[in-house]
This record gives sequence, structure tokens and C-alpha cells, in this order.
Amino acid sequence: MILQHCTWPDVEAYLRTSTGVVIPMGSTEQHGPTGLIGTDTFTAQSVAQAMGEIAGALVGPTLMLGPAQFNLAFPGTVSLRPTTLVHVIIDYVQSLARGGFRHFYFLNGHGGNAAPAACAFQEMHADRSLGHDRSGSVHFRLRSWWDLPQVNAMRQRLYGEGEGMHATPSEIAITRHVLPAISREDELPAPVPLDADFIKFHGGDNHMDAQSHRARFPDGRVGSHSGLARAEHGAQLLATAAREAALDYANFLRDGQG
Ligand code: NI
Repeated sequence: MILQHCTWPDVEAYLRTSTGVVIPMGSTEQHGPTGLIGTDTFTAQSVAQAMGEIAGALVGPTLMLGPAQFNLAFPGTVSLRPTTLVHVIIDYVQSLARGGFRHFYFLNGHGGNAAPAACAFQEMHADRSLGHDRSGSVHFRLRSWWDLPQVNAMRQRLYGEGEGMHATPSEIAITRHVLPAISREDELPAPVPLDADFIKFHGGDNHMDAQSHRARFPDGRVGSHSGLARAEHGAQLLATAAREAALDYANFLRDGQG
């Protein structure tokens, strides 16, 4: 069930059965010479819509912009400041909470979204703790699709260290599956593997400025061998992510926190 495809009486009827909503979060940023700029948005949206069908969950509008300043030296990237995303998330949640939604499940496709989302959740909890918001409790969970345990095992099995950190073969495989008509050929060589310290310190897209990022990763891939991506892998990754996320969502509705 997609929110924009509903009427308001449809939503009112849904709220009598559930107070949960799934919110896909992506980004609009370069994904190497062959990965589509909308990769993070297409992956988050396709996983969210597939899980929504399994779970019977309403899926809200996709957030297509996130913090991606480190990719601004590559043309076509559109970046929000982290603080802008915090405000967008708060306005999005409070709009739906006004109507009766209480459980907000963010299905994430971009590492840089996680820290601002956590900040937005704390801001909204703080409003209740401080007595500024007496509208009742709300619950949040953010899951990045690649962190779901079975998906994580599958992408390690398929790609090993070639998975890397950005323009990963797993995300590009999903876009090859959902958008075959616009997929690009990729015969790029394997990039230099990342060392463990780099991965440790730069997780969650914790990268420096755009100039130094492009100088270090001149084709835009961050340790990812995008040429390994296959549409059939994408179909498996998408189906596994949707199944796992639907179970995680059911647990979230039952337990609230997490
Ligand atoms: Ni990405």
C-alpha cells in the first residue's frame, strides 16, 4: 500500500488496523562511472515497497535527498546538510503523527542518513521528555537494508571484499534488477581494496570534504567492484531484504523500541 496511491478515507481505514508506516530513505549522488545517481533511492524504495506488500504496511513518500557533501565534486550529486535532513524527518513524522501514526520504520539506503535520523528521533523524544509534546508516545526504528543479517551474509558470500563501501555491487545489482532498461555496461577493473582502519573510521559515510574525496577515489567507487553486480543477484538480495525487513517491522510493531 503506497501512501500517494491512497485517498484520505483509505488512510483513515488503515489507521483503524495499524499505526505503522514504512519510510524509504535514499540519496541522490554519484555511484561510480556505471552506477545510477539514484541508486540509494531506488534500492530503498524497492525494498520498502516489497516489504510493505509482505507486511501489509503503508509505505510513505521516499526521501530522495540526504547528506552527501563528500560527493559534490562529482557533477549531479544533490546534498542536504545533515541539519536540513533532521528538520525534514521531524516535519514528516509530525505530519503523520497528527493523523494518528505512531510507529515509524525508516528503510534506509544511504549510510549518511543514519546519524541525522538518530538525531531527529532524539529531538522528538526530547520534546516529550521536556513536556513540549503531549501527543503520546511514538516509536522509531531505522534499518539499512544491507545490515539485515541474511542480506549481509549474502552480499559477503557474493562479493567478499569486492563489496567495498560505495557503488557496491549489491546496491548496483538491485538497480540492475529493478531498472534493467537503463542499466549500464561495467567492465571496470577491481579497485584497490580498503584497509580495515579505513572501513572502521569511515563507516556511515563519514567522509571528509568533496575535493579530497574525489582525489582519493577518482572514479567515485570506494573500494567497490561494481562490475560484479548481476541482475539475478539483485533479485535475490531484494527478495531476502524484503522478507527480513517485513519480519523486523512486525517485531517493531509488537515491541515498539529497538
Ligand atoms: Ni549507495
